[in-house]
Amino acid sequence: MAKIAVIGSSSIDLVVSADKRPQAGETVLGNSFETVPGGKGANQAVAAARLGADVTMIGRVGDDNFGEIILENLKANGVNTKYMEPVTHTRSGTAHITLAEGDNSIVVVKGANDHTTPEYVKKAEAAIREADIVLVQLEIPMETVEFAAELCDKLGVPLLLNPAPARPISRELIERASFITPNEHEFKLLFDGEDRSEVLKRYPNKLIITEGKEGARFFDGEKEWLVPGISVPVVDTTGAGDTFNAAFAVQIANGKSVYEALEFANHTAALSVTKFGAQGGMPTAEEVKRSREG
Ligand code: RIB
Repeated sequence: MAKIAVIGSSSIDLVVSADKRPQAGETVLGNSFETVPGGKGANQAVAAARLGADVTMIGRVGDDNFGEIILENLKANGVNTKYMEPVTHTRSGTAHITLAEGDNSIVVVKGANDHTTPEYVKKAEAAIREADIVLVQLEIPMETVEFAAELCDKLGVPLLLNPAPARPISRELIERASFITPNEHEFKLLFDGEDRSEVLKRYPNKLIITEGKEGARFFDGEKEWLVPGISVPVVDTTGAGDTFNAAFAVQIANGKSVYEALEFANHTAALSVTKFGAQGGMPTAEEVKRSREG
Protein backbone atom coordinates (compact mmCIF):
# COMPACT_ATOMS: atom_id res chain seq x y z
CA MET A 1 0.00 0.00 0.00
CA ALA A 2 1.33 3.47 -0.91
CA LYS A 3 2.40 5.42 2.17
CA ILE A 4 1.81 9.14 1.83
CA ALA A 5 2.45 12.12 4.11
CA VAL A 6 0.71 15.41 3.40
CA ILE A 7 2.13 18.55 4.98
CA GLY A 8 -0.46 21.23 4.50
CA SER A 9 -3.60 23.15 5.19
CA SER A 10 -7.08 22.21 6.24
CA SER A 11 -10.13 24.40 6.30
CA ILE A 12 -13.87 24.65 6.26
CA ASP A 13 -15.08 25.91 2.90
CA LEU A 14 -17.98 28.40 3.11
CA VAL A 15 -19.52 28.09 -0.32
CA VAL A 16 -22.03 30.49 -1.83
CA SER A 17 -23.49 29.85 -5.25
CA ALA A 18 -24.88 32.70 -7.29
CA ASP A 19 -25.79 33.38 -10.91
CA LYS A 20 -23.42 36.32 -11.04
CA ARG A 21 -20.17 37.26 -9.29
CA PRO A 22 -20.50 40.68 -7.58
CA GLN A 23 -18.31 43.53 -8.82
CA ALA A 24 -16.47 45.70 -6.24
CA GLY A 25 -19.13 47.66 -4.35
CA GLU A 26 -22.00 45.55 -5.75
CA THR A 27 -24.42 43.24 -3.90
CA VAL A 28 -26.05 40.30 -5.66
CA LEU A 29 -28.56 37.72 -4.45
CA GLY A 30 -27.19 34.19 -4.04
CA ASN A 31 -28.89 30.81 -4.54
CA SER A 32 -27.41 28.63 -1.79
CA PHE A 33 -24.90 28.41 1.04
CA GLU A 34 -23.07 25.27 2.25
CA THR A 35 -20.18 24.51 4.60
CA VAL A 36 -17.96 21.60 3.58
CA PRO A 37 -14.46 20.36 4.50
CA GLY A 38 -11.62 21.71 2.35
CA GLY A 39 -8.12 23.14 2.38
CA LYS A 40 -5.60 21.97 -0.20
CA GLY A 41 -3.67 19.75 2.21
CA ALA A 42 -6.72 18.04 3.69
CA ASN A 43 -8.26 17.66 0.22
CA GLN A 44 -5.13 15.91 -1.03
CA ALA A 45 -5.00 13.70 2.07
CA VAL A 46 -8.64 12.64 1.66
CA ALA A 47 -8.27 12.06 -2.09
CA ALA A 48 -5.22 9.83 -1.56
CA ALA A 49 -6.91 7.90 1.25
CA ARG A 50 -10.01 7.26 -0.91
CA LEU A 51 -7.67 5.86 -3.55
CA GLY A 52 -6.43 3.33 -1.01
CA ALA A 53 -3.21 4.96 0.27
CA ASP A 54 -2.07 4.92 3.87
CA VAL A 55 -2.12 8.68 4.56
CA THR A 56 -0.78 10.77 7.44
CA MET A 57 -1.65 14.46 7.50
CA ILE A 58 0.67 16.97 9.18
CA GLY A 59 -0.91 20.35 9.96
CA ARG A 60 -2.88 22.37 12.51
CA VAL A 61 -6.53 23.13 13.21
CA GLY A 62 -8.06 25.72 15.52
CA ASP A 63 -9.67 24.89 18.87
CA ASP A 64 -13.09 25.82 17.45
CA ASN A 65 -16.02 23.78 16.20
CA PHE A 66 -14.61 23.88 12.65
CA GLY A 67 -11.43 22.23 13.93
CA GLU A 68 -13.47 19.34 15.36
CA ILE A 69 -15.33 18.93 12.07
CA ILE A 70 -12.07 18.94 10.08
CA LEU A 71 -10.53 16.25 12.30
CA GLU A 72 -13.68 14.08 12.28
CA ASN A 73 -13.81 14.28 8.50
CA LEU A 74 -10.17 13.29 8.08
CA LYS A 75 -10.64 10.34 10.44
CA ALA A 76 -13.86 9.28 8.70
CA ASN A 77 -11.85 9.12 5.47
CA GLY A 78 -9.17 6.97 7.09
CA VAL A 79 -6.48 9.67 7.34
CA ASN A 80 -4.08 9.43 10.30
CA THR A 81 -4.48 12.67 12.32
CA LYS A 82 -1.76 12.07 14.93
CA TYR A 83 0.08 15.18 13.66
CA MET A 84 -3.01 17.44 13.36
CA GLU A 85 -2.76 19.21 16.70
CA PRO A 86 -5.24 21.99 17.60
CA VAL A 87 -3.87 25.48 18.32
CA THR A 88 -5.45 27.12 21.37
CA HIS A 89 -7.33 30.44 21.07
CA THR A 90 -7.05 30.25 17.28
CA ARG A 91 -9.60 29.77 14.53
CA SER A 92 -9.34 26.99 12.00
CA GLY A 93 -8.60 27.92 8.40
CA THR A 94 -11.56 28.96 6.29
CA ALA A 95 -12.03 29.37 2.56
CA HIS A 96 -14.72 31.75 1.33
CA ILE A 97 -15.82 30.45 -2.03
CA THR A 98 -18.16 31.94 -4.61
CA LEU A 99 -19.42 29.60 -7.32
CA ALA A 100 -20.72 31.67 -10.20
CA GLU A 101 -20.66 31.80 -14.00
CA GLY A 102 -19.20 28.27 -14.22
CA ASP A 103 -16.13 28.84 -12.03
CA ASN A 104 -15.05 29.52 -8.47
CA SER A 105 -13.31 32.42 -6.77
CA ILE A 106 -11.77 31.86 -3.36
CA VAL A 107 -10.49 33.92 -0.43
CA VAL A 108 -8.48 31.79 2.01
CA VAL A 109 -8.03 32.84 5.64
CA LYS A 110 -5.20 30.64 6.88
CA GLY A 111 -5.97 30.80 10.63
CA ALA A 112 -4.39 27.84 12.47
CA ASN A 113 -2.63 26.71 9.28
CA ASP A 114 -0.09 29.48 9.92
CA HIS A 115 1.00 27.50 12.99
CA THR A 116 2.32 24.67 10.84
CA THR A 117 5.86 25.82 11.55
CA PRO A 118 9.18 24.13 10.69
CA GLU A 119 9.54 23.09 14.37
CA TYR A 120 6.11 21.49 14.25
CA VAL A 121 6.90 19.59 11.04
CA LYS A 122 10.17 18.40 12.58
CA LYS A 123 8.10 16.62 15.26
CA ALA A 124 6.53 14.53 12.47
CA GLU A 125 9.88 13.44 11.03
CA ALA A 126 9.13 9.76 11.70
CA ALA A 127 6.02 9.88 9.47
CA ILE A 128 7.92 11.74 6.75
CA ARG A 129 10.81 9.29 6.85
CA GLU A 130 8.44 6.33 6.38
CA ALA A 131 6.52 7.88 3.46
CA ASP A 132 6.91 6.77 -0.16
CA ILE A 133 6.14 10.34 -1.17
CA VAL A 134 5.32 13.64 0.60
CA LEU A 135 2.87 16.24 -0.73
CA VAL A 136 3.05 19.93 0.12
CA GLN A 137 1.17 23.01 -1.11
CA LEU A 138 1.40 26.76 -0.42
CA GLU A 139 -1.36 27.45 2.14
CA ILE A 140 1.10 27.14 5.03
CA PRO A 141 4.10 29.40 5.82
CA MET A 142 6.71 29.44 3.04
CA GLU A 143 9.52 28.76 5.53
CA THR A 144 7.73 25.52 6.44
CA VAL A 145 7.45 24.48 2.79
CA GLU A 146 11.18 25.18 2.41
CA PHE A 147 11.96 23.25 5.58
CA ALA A 148 9.85 20.30 4.37
CA ALA A 149 11.76 20.26 1.08
CA GLU A 150 15.09 20.33 2.91
CA LEU A 151 14.00 17.54 5.24
CA CYS A 152 12.70 15.33 2.41
CA ASP A 153 15.95 15.93 0.55
CA LYS A 154 17.96 14.92 3.64
CA LEU A 155 15.82 11.82 4.22
CA GLY A 156 15.77 10.84 0.54
CA VAL A 157 11.96 10.93 0.40
CA PRO A 158 10.43 12.22 -2.89
CA LEU A 159 8.52 15.49 -2.54
CA LEU A 160 5.62 16.57 -4.72
CA LEU A 161 5.31 20.36 -4.57
CA ASN A 162 1.92 21.65 -5.66
CA PRO A 163 2.66 25.40 -5.96
CA ALA A 164 -0.89 26.52 -5.21
CA PRO A 165 -2.24 29.05 -4.56
CA ALA A 166 0.12 30.99 -6.83
CA ARG A 167 2.97 32.52 -4.80
CA PRO A 168 6.54 33.25 -5.84
CA ILE A 169 8.93 30.52 -4.68
CA SER A 170 12.71 30.17 -4.60
CA ARG A 171 14.72 28.37 -7.32
CA GLU A 172 16.16 26.19 -4.56
CA LEU A 173 12.69 24.94 -3.66
CA ILE A 174 11.98 24.06 -7.28
CA GLU A 175 15.30 22.22 -7.51
CA ARG A 176 14.66 20.29 -4.30
CA ALA A 177 11.21 18.99 -5.30
CA SER A 178 10.94 15.65 -7.12
CA PHE A 179 7.74 16.77 -8.84
CA ILE A 180 6.25 20.24 -9.25
CA THR A 181 2.71 20.64 -10.56
CA PRO A 182 1.74 24.23 -11.43
CA ASN A 183 -1.36 25.06 -13.42
CA GLU A 184 -0.88 27.43 -16.35
CA HIS A 185 -1.36 30.54 -14.22
CA GLU A 186 1.08 29.31 -11.54
CA PHE A 187 3.57 28.31 -14.26
CA LYS A 188 3.56 31.90 -15.58
CA LEU A 189 4.27 33.26 -12.13
CA LEU A 190 7.12 30.79 -11.47
CA PHE A 191 8.80 31.02 -14.88
CA ASP A 192 7.90 34.54 -15.92
CA GLY A 193 8.40 35.12 -19.65
CA GLU A 194 10.19 31.81 -20.25
CA ASP A 195 9.33 29.48 -23.09
CA ARG A 196 7.13 26.64 -21.81
CA SER A 197 8.81 23.89 -23.84
CA GLU A 198 12.27 25.03 -22.81
CA VAL A 199 11.33 24.97 -19.13
CA LEU A 200 9.72 21.54 -19.49
CA LYS A 201 12.96 20.25 -21.06
CA ARG A 202 14.92 21.58 -18.08
CA TYR A 203 12.83 19.46 -15.71
CA PRO A 204 12.18 16.10 -17.42
CA ASN A 205 9.69 13.81 -15.64
CA LYS A 206 9.46 16.42 -12.88
CA LEU A 207 7.60 19.49 -14.08
CA ILE A 208 3.93 18.75 -14.76
CA ILE A 209 1.83 21.65 -16.08
CA THR A 210 -1.87 21.10 -15.56
CA GLU A 211 -4.14 22.57 -18.21
CA GLY A 212 -7.60 21.87 -16.79
CA LYS A 213 -9.80 19.74 -19.03
CA GLU A 214 -7.11 19.80 -21.74
CA GLY A 215 -4.92 17.53 -19.62
CA ALA A 216 -1.39 17.63 -18.20
CA ARG A 217 1.87 18.42 -19.96
CA PHE A 218 5.38 17.08 -19.26
CA PHE A 219 8.67 16.22 -20.98
CA ASP A 220 9.86 12.61 -20.66
CA GLY A 221 13.50 13.23 -21.60
CA GLU A 222 12.83 12.77 -25.32
CA LYS A 223 9.42 14.15 -26.11
CA GLU A 224 6.89 16.64 -24.77
CA TRP A 225 3.50 15.06 -24.01
CA LEU A 226 0.06 16.48 -23.36
CA VAL A 227 -1.69 13.63 -21.56
CA PRO A 228 -5.30 14.35 -22.54
CA GLY A 229 -7.98 15.24 -19.99
CA ILE A 230 -11.42 13.64 -19.81
CA SER A 231 -14.60 15.55 -20.72
CA VAL A 232 -17.36 15.30 -18.12
CA PRO A 233 -20.41 17.32 -17.07
CA VAL A 234 -19.00 19.82 -14.55
CA VAL A 235 -20.79 20.57 -11.28
CA ASP A 236 -17.96 22.09 -9.22
CA THR A 237 -14.25 22.33 -10.11
CA THR A 238 -13.17 23.12 -6.53
CA GLY A 239 -10.61 20.53 -5.40
CA ALA A 240 -9.98 19.11 -8.88
CA GLY A 241 -6.31 20.12 -8.67
CA ASP A 242 -6.01 18.50 -5.25
CA THR A 243 -7.57 15.27 -6.51
CA PHE A 244 -5.17 15.32 -9.47
CA ASN A 245 -2.09 15.79 -7.26
CA ALA A 246 -3.14 13.07 -4.82
CA ALA A 247 -3.96 10.59 -7.58
CA PHE A 248 -0.66 11.28 -9.33
CA ALA A 249 1.28 10.81 -6.06
CA VAL A 250 -0.50 7.52 -5.26
CA GLN A 251 0.36 6.15 -8.69
CA ILE A 252 4.00 7.24 -8.47
CA ALA A 253 4.21 5.66 -5.00
CA ASN A 254 2.81 2.49 -6.57
CA GLY A 255 5.65 2.45 -9.10
CA LYS A 256 3.78 3.74 -12.19
CA SER A 257 5.47 5.84 -14.87
CA VAL A 258 4.79 9.58 -15.05
CA TYR A 259 2.62 9.07 -18.16
CA GLU A 260 0.55 6.31 -16.54
CA ALA A 261 0.22 8.31 -13.33
CA LEU A 262 -1.01 11.34 -15.29
CA GLU A 263 -3.61 9.32 -17.21
CA PHE A 264 -4.97 8.05 -13.91
CA ALA A 265 -4.80 11.49 -12.28
CA ASN A 266 -6.68 13.12 -15.18
CA HIS A 267 -9.42 10.52 -14.92
CA THR A 268 -9.68 10.81 -11.14
CA ALA A 269 -9.79 14.62 -11.24
CA ALA A 270 -12.49 14.51 -13.94
CA LEU A 271 -14.68 12.33 -11.72
CA SER A 272 -14.18 14.76 -8.83
CA VAL A 273 -15.74 17.71 -10.67
CA THR A 274 -19.01 15.88 -11.29
CA LYS A 275 -20.18 16.49 -7.70
CA PHE A 276 -20.45 19.50 -5.39
CA GLY A 277 -17.70 20.43 -2.89
CA ALA A 278 -13.94 20.04 -2.88
CA GLN A 279 -14.16 16.51 -1.49
CA GLY A 280 -17.72 15.64 -2.54
CA GLY A 281 -16.75 14.04 -5.84
CA MET A 282 -13.38 12.50 -4.93
CA PRO A 283 -13.67 8.89 -6.08
CA THR A 284 -12.47 5.65 -4.52
CA ALA A 285 -9.97 3.46 -6.39
CA GLU A 286 -12.85 1.12 -7.27
CA GLU A 287 -14.92 3.99 -8.73
CA VAL A 288 -12.00 5.12 -10.88
CA LYS A 289 -11.47 1.55 -12.10
CA ARG A 290 -15.15 1.13 -13.00
CA SER A 291 -15.26 4.46 -14.78
CA ARG A 292 -12.09 3.72 -16.78
CA GLU A 293 -13.43 0.34 -17.83
CA GLY A 294 -16.87 1.73 -18.65
O1 RIB B 1 -7.98 23.56 -3.85
C1 RIB B 1 -9.28 23.80 -3.38
C2 RIB B 1 -9.22 24.34 -1.99
O2 RIB B 1 -8.62 25.60 -2.02
C3 RIB B 1 -10.57 24.55 -1.37
O3 RIB B 1 -11.06 23.41 -0.70
C4 RIB B 1 -10.33 25.71 -0.45
O4 RIB B 1 -10.20 25.31 0.88
C5 RIB B 1 -9.05 26.38 -0.95
O5 RIB B 1 -8.09 26.35 0.00
